Amino acid sequence: MVPDDVRKEILAKVREFHALAHGDCPFEAGKTRIPYAGRVYDERDMQEMVNAVLDFWLTLGPYGDAFEEKLKSFLGVSEVILVNSGSSANLVAVSALCSKEIENHLRPGDEVITPAVTFPTTVAPLVQNNLVPVFVDCELGTYNLDASLLDEAVSERTRAVFLAHTLGNPCDMDAIMDFARKHELFVIEDVCDALGSRYDNTAVGTFGDLGTLSFYPAHHITTGEGGAVVTNDERLARVARSVRDWGRECYCTHRTRNPHGECGRRFEFEIRGMSGNYDHRYVYSNIGYNLKPTDIQAALGCAQMEKLLKFIEARKRNFGQLHAGLEEFEEFLMLPTWSEKAEVAWFAYPITVREAAPFLRKELLLWLEEGLIQTRLLFAGNILRQPGYRDIPHRVAGRLTNSDLVMRNSFFIGVYPGLREEHIAYVIDRFGKFFRRL
Ligand SMILES: Cc1ncc(COP(=O)(O)O)c(C=O)c1O
Repeated sequence: MVPDDVRKEILAKVREFHALAHGDCPFEAGKTRIPYAGRVYDERDMQEMVNAVLDFWLTLGPYGDAFEEKLKSFLGVSEVILVNSGSSANLVAVSALCSKEIENHLRPGDEVITPAVTFPTTVAPLVQNNLVPVFVDCELGTYNLDASLLDEAVSERTRAVFLAHTLGNPCDMDAIMDFARKHELFVIEDVCDALGSRYDNTAVGTFGDLGTLSFYPAHHITTGEGGAVVTNDERLARVARSVRDWGRECYCTHRTRNPHGECGRRFEFEIRGMSGNYDHRYVYSNIGYNLKPTDIQAALGCAQMEKLLKFIEARKRNFGQLHAGLEEFEEFLMLPTWSEKAEVAWFAYPITVREAAPFLRKELLLWLEEGLIQTRLLFAGNILRQPGYRDIPHRVAGRLTNSDLVMRNSFFIGVYPGLREEHIAYVIDRFGKFFRRL
């Protein structure tokens, strides 16, 4: 037997195992859990991962290259840098803009405008890089940064905007990009919840200088843990890759057997202050980290990409069904809104309990959770009220009234592709029963 035959046998067994151990469960009202999100996978996902294990490349290799190519063509970008989480993608993106190798780079004390309702690791890299977040309020309904407040937020120190497309819903990119151009600001888009969403027929994540993705199981595709930085700027991509890879200057893939390196110039680089021609693999031009994923994760990413369009369709369908079913409860609940220019690959379905409602958010959440319907709050709410963030150096533009309301009264439920019509019908019915009890 040759290794290829054994591989085929193993992969056939994986298919068999998947069918036996990971098949579909029938829905039973009140007994089946309705998660807010979750991994959706088939035999191909498991087979590709096993294939990568058998290859035993381990660190980023052929599957990493293939996954990057698939993301590039899906988003229409020229550069994708895989990392090990969405949080790492945010850290790499902000750190890259602080690199001395970038013209007009960000410096300690520079201000970055960002929404107060946010995910913690969208703000953390600003603090970690000694930048000053300037918080603006969010819109109710979209829960995105309110672009009408940008003029109020800008100062002489403002150098960038770091926005997130909340739960997949695109921000007002016309207004934000006009503002950024006018004030010559960098723009980073956190697309961790919005892979596949479009604004004005353009993929979100491709408007700004850099976009960031997460492949945590809750998101549109998964690699277990994982993420990526995307950009159309070759220089920024090179620096982002350096920040990811220990700060290393060399950007060859190091997969060649040529002792002179892939570029053939490994020992030809003269670096100021270093005697001789130091091996370029060991030249560090940035303060870096090691935030790389593995080839096994990338193998899963490749298989997931084949299903992404179907996943997005299912998210839209589930969202539409939920929206139609919950409309009759608008007296109590504020339902989501979106721009006419937005085509939304929804991450989840956000709801705000109206202030005049005769019940507390907690009562509704417990009712849903007791009915096995998972609920989640809108991440950190107003991040400035979180213990770890209360005392960070920051500025607030105007008031954060909506952000506080979101923290008190908003939550979201699932629309992920693992849910079908019967799951959503059950969720709507459970809401109805709550309101009939009032
Ligand atoms: C908007 C946003 N940004 C960043 C992240 C961080 O991604 P990760 O969990 O992959 O670190 C998340 C996580 O869910 C997120 O929702």
